[in-house]
Amino acid sequence: MRPETAVAIRLEDYASAPYRIDTVDLDIQLNPRAATITARLAISRQDGTPEGTDLVLDGDALELFGLAIDGLPLTQDRYTVTPDKLTLNEVPTHPFVLEIVTRINPDANTELMGLYRSSGTYCTQCEAEGFRCITYFLDRPDVLSVYTTRIEARKGEAPVLLGNGNLIQSGDLPGTDRHFAVWHDPHPKPSYLFAMVAGDLAHVADTFVTSSGREVDLKIYVEHGRENRCAWAMDSLKRSMKWDEEVFGCEYDLDIFNIVAVSDFNMGAMENKGLNIFNDKYVLADPETATDQDYANIEAVIAHEYFHNWTGNRITCRDWFQLCLKEGLTVFRDQEFSSNMRSRPVKRISDVRLLKSHQFPEDAGPLAHPVRPRKYTEINNFYTATVYEKGAEVVRMLKTLLGPDGFRKGMDLYFERHDGEATTIEAFLACFSEATSTDLGQFARWYEQAGTPQVDVKSQYNAASGDLTLEINQMISPLPGQPSSDPSVIPLRFGLIGPNGDDMPPSSVTGAKVQGDVLILEDKTQSVTFSGLPSKPVLSLLRGFSAPVQLEAHQSADDLLFLARQDCDPFNRWQALQTRATQDLISLAAKAVANQPLKADPQLVDAFGDVLTNEDLDPAFRALALQLPSEADLARDTGMNVDPDAISAARSTLRKALGSAHANAFKSAMSNRPTGTFSPDAANAGQRALANQALGYYAASGENDIEAVLTNAFDRADNMTDLIAALTLLVHDGLPSAEQRLEAFRKRHEDTSLAMDKWFMVQATAALADGLERVKALTAHPLFDFANPNRVRSLVHAFATGNPTQFARIDGSGFEFVADNVIAIDQRNPQVASRLLTCFRSWRAYEKTRSAHAEAQLLRISSAEKLSRDSRDIVERCLQ
Ligand code: PHE
Ligand code: ZN
Repeated sequence: MRPETAVAIRLEDYASAPYRIDTVDLDIQLNPRAATITARLAISRQDGTPEGTDLVLDGDALELFGLAIDGLPLTQDRYTVTPDKLTLNEVPTHPFVLEIVTRINPDANTELMGLYRSSGTYCTQCEAEGFRCITYFLDRPDVLSVYTTRIEARKGEAPVLLGNGNLIQSGDLPGTDRHFAVWHDPHPKPSYLFAMVAGDLAHVADTFVTSSGREVDLKIYVEHGRENRCAWAMDSLKRSMKWDEEVFGCEYDLDIFNIVAVSDFNMGAMENKGLNIFNDKYVLADPETATDQDYANIEAVIAHEYFHNWTGNRITCRDWFQLCLKEGLTVFRDQEFSSNMRSRPVKRISDVRLLKSHQFPEDAGPLAHPVRPRKYTEINNFYTATVYEKGAEVVRMLKTLLGPDGFRKGMDLYFERHDGEATTIEAFLACFSEATSTDLGQFARWYEQAGTPQVDVKSQYNAASGDLTLEINQMISPLPGQPSSDPSVIPLRFGLIGPNGDDMPPSSVTGAKVQGDVLILEDKTQSVTFSGLPSKPVLSLLRGFSAPVQLEAHQSADDLLFLARQDCDPFNRWQALQTRATQDLISLAAKAVANQPLKADPQLVDAFGDVLTNEDLDPAFRALALQLPSEADLARDTGMNVDPDAISAARSTLRKALGSAHANAFKSAMSNRPTGTFSPDAANAGQRALANQALGYYAASGENDIEAVLTNAFDRADNMTDLIAALTLLVHDGLPSAEQRLEAFRKRHEDTSLAMDKWFMVQATAALADGLERVKALTAHPLFDFANPNRVRSLVHAFATGNPTQFARIDGSGFEFVADNVIAIDQRNPQVASRLLTCFRSWRAYEKTRSAHAEAQLLRISSAEKLSRDSRDIVERCLQ
């Protein structure tokens, strides 16, 4: 395990590496409990490095077995070793070859960083700082080297040997049971993109012909017996390759592209050059075991990792502060890809929901940080929604501000100028600025300031003059380490809607820059006047969610319902109904706290009914529009003094009101499912989503055939989407037949761990009075496994994030359970533990009994006897 003492690393302290490593030759001898790595590094002094400067290499719990320079073993006085560094003194003044022999134990690697085994397969994970768990190295992204990797293993154990780049040699070792393969990657790369896999794997193969006519061999490697679940991933890969050529002009640059799916993986997937390694949940799919959401996720993650080949691999980050340079940009690219493959508005709404539910709370609490942080103690804790999702929003705003052509010009310049480099956000922005002659100085604040800007808009219409005036104010609430902030550039897409529902174009706009239908806000306060409006318009602001801000437009309930029915912008149509529902639910929750009777607003109930029956709307859109704000959304919008029980009571009041008011319409919508053979495409998935949303409301209708309807839906389901939807309702509503159906599900799927993850998750998120006890009991289930990150996420993490009333039980026992797990998991896998720990980040927003319990648990964690740097960092920031 890494040393626990933490030193803050600061962006302003960046200095380039004193030495370069031009080539890396690795020889990896694999054995389950002892892998021996011989690294030959061609090292030379960087210009400007004084002769005699020590060479300080990073290491992490390595056993050093040999050290030589230009073939001569080093005597002990030439180097010093600490747990995390190897320092060489009297380094030659001329270029030299350093040979290092280390030994590691793949089987004992429970952190899943560096070289480890997952279900018998050797694999590596090197981002961010995992290469130093394999050998000593300048393990930083601005050291680019050409890698040649020789892998040797027992042939029976690992018939498949994979590395980055191209296979240049392979064979058996005569007289032994071992064989080898040599891989060479001609593209210089940072160590975090190194990868190697060895195991007994099956594969599926296909080819792709690039725009310049090169044929690329595509292979997806999986455990034997899973080959028939790779078709969707392969199809997604080919579509991604084509799309990147067409939309960004990016062509693939090797003759081979390999993907390996493993079942033990800390994150989603990893873009290692030519050898992507995936959490198998983002590869494997068939209708029996994967939901429509799984199919959509696979498509997006396959695309994301593939797109990294240009945004991340060919152009990488100078240092880890620049993480958003590759991640925000690549998320933007995968979101655009999915929008082109599916419905753009539906994709946009889903992405914004995710942003608001994950990133907004992060940005409003103790873990808030800028898209490009200035300081970290543990980089693994910065793979956050802010870096990824807000980072993508910033790129999207750039496109909105510069227009599609200006954006493409900037991207082209970026690829041309920085190909083969490790670079920065400044360099990225400079390309857009130069390509379009635009000053992006103020825009850069989006990378530098934490917190979600709150935009407050008050409007006044003057009938006599036909003017509409907006008083606009933007601000970011003070955050730890950021007491004040400066105004951001906010592109605010708008429409002024006339009584007939059509947009009314103003004859002129004063007080802000305007580009088409986008107002560009730059000042803390701005007064904007639209002229030439014959009647009072209804304002539609932030169309398409054109900026990641929290908008308060002070609109009346009637205006919101008007927008929900009339806005030509589908995003704002969705948003208006959500805003209206949020207002109603928050006031219901306040009544629940005051023990007053709860009754849903009939107008709101009607508006949802209209969405349900409006056949002009895409079913996928209707399914989303019918989805109420989650309990977590409502907690966030409540701000302080959050009482999860009151929120839950409010939400179920509205659900019941909707279910009973529209029971017949829901009953007919729930049986309107796609017919014929299963297809995961957007149209079919949308139809299923609407039918299952309707099924959910019917379950809340109070009708007396509910249980029969649900068990029937479960029994007749011929795909996982429908099956899990029915099972979720049976379990979450605590219906008597739930146990039997859970058992049926387990029998059917117990050999498919991704399906069993869903089985655990359904139970983890059941807000029943004994929800916590069930989850505790499930941690002792024979299929539960603390070593498997997906399983931990599907039970403990799902409980902490998806079961707000049980997690935040008033007696503190839910918090205590999660804290116990954080402490236990931390011993084995700090990354999984620290991520679980982030579920406490909004602890101060609870009402005082709960926040006191949460604080007590955080203090208990922080005083645990042994705590990793990862968890220590999160707990300390939470408590600061
Ligand atoms: N770079 C990966 C991605 O977003 C995420 C990742 C980070 C995976 C760290 C593993 C470790 O595509
Ligand atoms: Zn990524």
